[in-house]
Amino acid sequence: MSAGQAAVEWSEPVWNVSQGLDHMRSEGRDEHPSHDLVTRWLAHRYRETFSLLDGGVMSAVTYEKLQLAGLAVDYTGIDRSATVLADCCQRFPRARWEHGNILDLAYGAATFDVVYARHLLEHVPYYETAVREMFRVARDSIVICLFQVPAEPERLLRRETPNGYIWLNRYAPGPLEALLRSLSVSVESHDVSLARRINRVYFCEKAPAGR
Ligand SMILES: C[S@@+](CC[C@H](N)C(=O)[O-])C[C@H]1O[C@@H](n2cnc3c(N)ncnc32)[C@H](O)[C@@H]1O
Repeated sequence: MSAGQAAVEWSEPVWNVSQGLDHMRSEGRDEHPSHDLVTRWLAHRYRETFSLLDGGVMSAVTYEKLQLAGLAVDYTGIDRSATVLADCCQRFPRARWEHGNILDLAYGAATFDVVYARHLLEHVPYYETAVREMFRVARDSIVICLFQVPAEPERLLRRETPNGYIWLNRYAPGPLEALLRSLSVSVESHDVSLARRINRVYFCEKAPAGR
C-alpha cells in the first residue's frame, strides 16, 4: 500500500485490480451470452414490475443489461466492496446500491421476487450458506450463473494475489444440484459459451416454505 493510501476492507484490493486477473477481464465477460439468456428468461416470466436482488455487482454489468433489455425491474445491487459501490452509485445514481454480504443477507424472508448471483459463488469460501441465504430472501426465483462450470473433482482454491486473496472455487455438481433441488419445485440448468468461456446458469423456482 502506498503512503497516504487509506486502509480498505479485506476484499477491496483484489477487486480494485480485478482486470489484472484473467478470469475477471471485461472482454468476454460483459458480452457473454449468459446475460442474454437471463434477461430473456426474466422477460418471459415477469410481465409486470418485479424486484430483483443482484449479489456482487462489480462493474454494474447486470444492472446495465437489465436496463438495456427494457425490463421493469426494481433493482437492488449489493457488494462487499465500498469502492465498487461508490463507483456504481456515481455511474447509476437512480439504482439502489447497498453494502451487503451474500453469506449473511440483511433482508427479511421473501423480500425480493428474484435473487440473482452472477460469477459470485466461486468467490465465497463455499456455496451452501450463500445459496440458503438467496433462497431465504427470494419470494419466487433464484438465478445462479457460474463461470466455473461445476465438475468433479471439487476444487476449493484460495488464490493469493499481491493485493490480497480471492477464492476461485469449482464445485462438484452432485451436492450443489441436490441442494438446489431440495429447495426448489423446479431447477433448469443451461450451459452457454462464448469462445472457450462456458457459463452454467441455474434457474430455480423456490419451493413453498416448509416443503
Ligand atoms: C467476479 S465479480 C462479479 C460481478 C458481476 N456480477 C459480473 O457478473 O460481472 C464478484 C463481485 O462480488 C463481490 N463480492 C465478493 N464477495 C462477496 C460477498 N461475500 N458478498 C457480496 N459481494 C461479494 C466483489 O466485490 C465483486 O464485485
